[in-house]
Amino acid sequence: DCIPVILSGGVGSRLWPLSRQAHPKQFIRLTPEGKSLLQQTWQRVQGLPQLQPPLVVANEAHRFLVAEQFQELGVTPTRILLEPVGRNTAPAITVAALYVTEVLASDALLLVLPADHFIQDVAHFQWGLQRGFSAAAKDWLVTFGIAPTSPHTGYGYIRRGESLSDPDTYRVAEFVEKPDLATAEAYLAAGNYLWNSGMFLFRAQSFLAELAQQQPQILDYCRLALRQGREDLDFIRLGKEAFDQCPNLSVDYGLMEKTQKAAVVPLDCGWSDVGSWSSLWEILPKDEWGNSCRGDVLVYNSKDCFAQSQHRLVALVGVDNLMVVETADAILIAHREAAQQVKQVVEQLQARN
Ligand code: GDD
Ligand code: MG
Repeated sequence: DCIPVILSGGVGSRLWPLSRQAHPKQFIRLTPEGKSLLQQTWQRVQGLPQLQPPLVVANEAHRFLVAEQFQELGVTPTRILLEPVGRNTAPAITVAALYVTEVLASDALLLVLPADHFIQDVAHFQWGLQRGFSAAAKDWLVTFGIAPTSPHTGYGYIRRGESLSDPDTYRVAEFVEKPDLATAEAYLAAGNYLWNSGMFLFRAQSFLAELAQQQPQILDYCRLALRQGREDLDFIRLGKEAFDQCPNLSVDYGLMEKTQKAAVVPLDCGWSDVGSWSSLWEILPKDEWGNSCRGDVLVYNSKDCFAQSQHRLVALVGVDNLMVVETADAILIAHREAAQQVKQVVEQLQARN
């Protein structure tokens, strides 16, 4: 069996002002298909062999959004695990792995899927994922690597090692999370690095065994949080006291950079992380001048802009490379190249409140 573990806990602050704490980006219908990124995450694994309903890990505050969006698809999740606070991806994956081994007593493979990705070619995506199954069954922690196209510093970088006996699968010789720009440039030039897609495939047991080595505290607090958890409809509310104390750490820093048991399967499927307005602009349809507009927007003599209006008419005249997002109570105007810095505004806002 294969249980998709959908991580839906991020806040998406670089997509402010559309993405808000109360309604983060994975729940927004960003693309013309009309389904949210969370819903698309589930839809694009349909058809994989032995697929079980998803196990969703999300913040308590978003429980109704998660439940509604799966209901709309006619899907009953295996469970929705609710975190009282965000502790990043290592604890989120750990509670899912513990739920599968201790509560379901299952030896299923876990397919960890971030809820905020966009993938163009679903057929290739599924084909690539299935290449990872045989190594995962042999206790490898399988990552999926994307051929890098820029020295992006927001991603993990994987150096491909020797070939394993499984098709198209390599040992991970080195995993470096979010390197600085000079390092990322060197990796890109070297040619033997892949971006970490953030999706993982492994037996719950292999993950937990490795976690016990690298991050025993996370394992202990998560186990306690699950044992103290309260069932409530399709939800399990994790124990607050224990989860609060759990270290805040991503699986990339906490485990993938340290383990010797990681393998990588290259994945070529038009992948992108819809992290910022510029990355959204990149995947959306554009007019012949490179503008992508949604809502009531007029454009004259402008190029390579993204503009979205919800309430008022937005007009762009003689500008280029601007990201303009109009909502009821806030308007963002950012240079395309500064799109990563939008999260600074959110930090300033939080400091103000
Ligand atoms: N449930 C839960 N709880 N989910 C979380 C939490 C949490 O505390 N924190 C993050 N997530 C979810 C996010 O919603 C997202 O779907 C996924 O986990 C990854 O988190 P990000 O915060 O988006 O990570 P990142 O983009 O900085 O880096 C990761 O993804 C890159 C590719 O997009 C890393 O895995 C990188 O190595 C990778 O290149
Ligand atoms: Mg991300």
